[in-house]
Amino acid sequence: MDDYQEAEQEEEENVQSDSSESVFRSDEEAERLQVEVQELYDKVSGLENFYSIVDKLGEGTFSSVYKAIDVHHYVYDNRSWSNADPYQQAPVTAPGRPARNHYVALKRIYVTSSPSRILNELEIMAKCRRVLHLAYLITAFRSEDQVIVVMPYNRNRDFRDYYRQMPLSDLKCYMTCLLKALEGLHLLGIVHRDVKPANFLYDPDTGEGTLCDFGLAETLDYRRWRGKCHHSKPEGYFRHGQIKINLDVPSLHFSPGGLLDDMNGPYKALPERSSVGLSAKHNANVGGKGKMGPPERVGYLKEDARYSIQANRAGTRGFRAPEVLLKCQDQTTAIDTWSVGILMLCFLIKRFPLFNANTDTEALLELMMMFGKKRIEQVALLHNRTFYTNLPGTFNPLERDPTRDGFRLPEFVQHLNPDIYEAPLDHPDPAQYIREVERAIDLCRKLMQLDLTRRYDAKLALRHPFLNEETARSEDEHREAAAAAAAAATTFATKLEH
Ligand SMILES: Nc1ncnc2c1ncn2[C@@H]1O[C@H](COP(=O)(O)OP(=O)(O)OP(=O)(O)O)[C@@H](O)[C@H]1O
Ligand SMILES: [Mg+2]
Repeated sequence: MDDYQEAEQEEEENVQSDSSESVFRSDEEAERLQVEVQELYDKVSGLENFYSIVDKLGEGTFSSVYKAIDVHHYVYDNRSWSNADPYQQAPVTAPGRPARNHYVALKRIYVTSSPSRILNELEIMAKCRRVLHLAYLITAFRSEDQVIVVMPYNRNRDFRDYYRQMPLSDLKCYMTCLLKALEGLHLLGIVHRDVKPANFLYDPDTGEGTLCDFGLAETLDYRRWRGKCHHSKPEGYFRHGQIKINLDVPSLHFSPGGLLDDMNGPYKALPERSSVGLSAKHNANVGGKGKMGPPERVGYLKEDARYSIQANRAGTRGFRAPEVLLKCQDQTTAIDTWSVGILMLCFLIKRFPLFNANTDTEALLELMMMFGKKRIEQVALLHNRTFYTNLPGTFNPLERDPTRDGFRLPEFVQHLNPDIYEAPLDHPDPAQYIREVERAIDLCRKLMQLDLTRRYDAKLALRHPFLNEETARSEDEHREAAAAAAAAATTFATKLEH
């Protein structure tokens, strides 16, 4: 489908959907909504003449979003905000009245939001106009302290209604829309920072998905790279940077030139008491160079004299990437693809929310229970941080290597969703189904790499065999050729024996 057709379809959806889709509201709720809408009309003079609010779509921390009829839609030339508008000349049934309503979403940003934050959201939404699968700005206006953002209305259903029964073919559709949205956004040099189900408007009936809510989004400027971690700036092929031992920063964990993952037994004599410590302060203040022995005391210092590190940790709990939890000061678009990985995992294990920690330290412990202690320690090193806990790691009955704790992703998924490989009864090719599940898990694993430099970006993810038929076909051909070669070698060996 080309851009024109996509825009046409989007327009079609905006036009066709009518207020009969609105959620059912009790009389009491309907009355409350009416009062709320009237209060908005009173505060924003003239609003009523342009937009007729028919429903409330959502309420977030910083805004309320309403569905409204764009009363004068057909009177204006909408080409400046729409790729193509086939309904410019709307069918007219009665003089001056279009046959169908055109819906938009109105986001009323609360006064508690700072002006710079609102401006940032509007600027980013304006840049999103030409990118498919992104909610974008039609127009915005302010009346005293009230700011209203107008964007296209995107029909969608609550994630909780469908994620447990979504077939693999639909999951492909969901992931493709989401990753295309991120591919476009990241190309603009923007990181969303809050990828989660509530911010991805997906309609399982049409397979259309739109990423919304740019309230926390950030335009990245790699010229302001701080260079305090052991990973480099995104560059060329290395879209999430590369691991590089950074000799410019004092580090507790290695002597210059040493290996980052040389973590053999630094914490042998652990105290018995359960405790966890995360040093997200400047390591130079904690000690000198060389390997770190077990901290004498763990937990939080009551009066911590070390200067604290300022890093952007905006996002939603359960979806924050490890580098955000570790207060990395050089964050990249990789934080969004981590959140996509978490979202995909929710589909695979049929659980939502998956992680629910109250603090970043607890969130790291949650990750530790899944990935194992050693891997969290290693990712902490990558960001020049110390992760220390004497809590036991997860016992994995399937793990053969006694030095490893935690799960590998395929085991983790199967542990929580034992039926995942069972093809639906009417599936024509169960073996193919199993391959598809394996591919889905593999893509999720590549998005959920703790080490951001190894994490897939949106572009690469879209070429993964789970989402891309061409790469899937060539992978299948490769597998078949390898199997045929192995069979031929066995026959040859058997002949030689005789
Ligand atoms: N264009 C749209 N079309 C349809 N529904 C929308 C649209 N934009 C937002 N919504 C609905 O409104 C909800 C809140 O919107 P949004 O996430 O932009 O606001 P928010 O206040 O920043 O939210 P939060 O703080 O919870 O992240 C969304 O989860 C969605 O249900
Ligand atoms: Mg939101």
